[in-house]
Amino acid sequence: MTRSVIAGIGSYVPPQVVSNNDLSKLMTTSDEWIRTRSGIEERRFAGEGVYCSDLALEAARNALANAHLEPSDLDFIIFATLSPDHHFPGTGCFLQAKLGVPYIGCLDVRNQCTGFIYGLAVGDAFIRAGMYRHILLVGSELHSNALSFTDEGRDVSVLFGDGAGAVVLVSSTEEDRGVLYTELHADGRFAKALHMDVWNISRKPYLTHESIDTGEIWPQMDGKTVFKHAVIRMAELVTNALKHCEVQPENIKYVIPHQANMRINQLVAERLGFPQEKFLNNIQKYGNTTAASIPLLLDDAYRAGKLQRNDLLLLIAFGSGFTWASALLRW
Ligand code: ACO
Repeated sequence: MTRSVIAGIGSYVPPQVVSNNDLSKLMTTSDEWIRTRSGIEERRFAGEGVYCSDLALEAARNALANAHLEPSDLDFIIFATLSPDHHFPGTGCFLQAKLGVPYIGCLDVRNQCTGFIYGLAVGDAFIRAGMYRHILLVGSELHSNALSFTDEGRDVSVLFGDGAGAVVLVSSTEEDRGVLYTELHADGRFAKALHMDVWNISRKPYLTHESIDTGEIWPQMDGKTVFKHAVIRMAELVTNALKHCEVQPENIKYVIPHQANMRINQLVAERLGFPQEKFLNNIQKYGNTTAASIPLLLDDAYRAGKLQRNDLLLLIAFGSGFTWASALLRW
């Protein structure tokens, strides 16, 4: 039986560290407010002139090096982001050109916080169908240029950071290793609970001067609704995966949750009766990096020597859409 195995992993964050205190110089907020509400201590910002695909390029190079593969070995690229280089074409195409591998197919996944897991499910299906053997899957975000560092935008802007993570998925015949299970969900009735209205194509023209004046160029979030649904759905994902795969909680080495808010992940662990240590977190250092958060966390854990071959890992995410998704993999 063919399975997809993560043969290489890498990540990249821009060097500029922005602390909570740095943000409190731009708007009415405080280290205490951000830390207690979200667990975030600092995040990285890329600065002007950097593209989302530039961060992805560094992460992809690191993942390829870790897999002992060259860009020319790749058959396909899947690119997950909510902060694409441009409205179109897809950012995967920009990354492909930067990697110097013309002709291979590129697919952008626009599923925000669950983009990496949705991309993993798609890549896994391609590999199991025998369509491709080496797929680069990247989650990359450049949020910082699209956040409002004002009192009006502070509920959102303190939460997000820039970064990228990548894996190389390869076809393998090893029994019981790699991606074992994926589960994908969405509920579009909540599409506007976390969204950005600026690309409203129903308008003629779709962009106006008022777009800036009304603040619609910035992301809008109903934080409490997102929080409430995230806790319920992420706990459900864990229960479903365990039941479907007939796995006991103690056999899961780590849950790798999307890094939206430390309190969300703590509540999910609590609700499931899991020890908090089973849920890995690095939101303290990077904030919410949306599609990049899971591969960034996975790479951090890998580089810290926390992951051993054959460990069972459960990836879970919830975000804009609403969308929620999980993947069970054997490392
Ligand atoms: N600094 C200081 N005060 C702030 C800030 C800030 N950055 N932001 C909001 N406030 C104020 C509010 O204006 C409000 O003031 P008021 O009481 O005078 O009206 C007060 O703080 C409390 O605000 P709440 O919204 O009640 O704060 P809450 O405890 O709900 O926490 C938070 C807000 C952190 C946004 C929380 O709702 C949350 O984390 N929600 C989930 C967000 C999330 O996960 N988003 C991303 C998921 S999807 C994705 O990753 C794309």
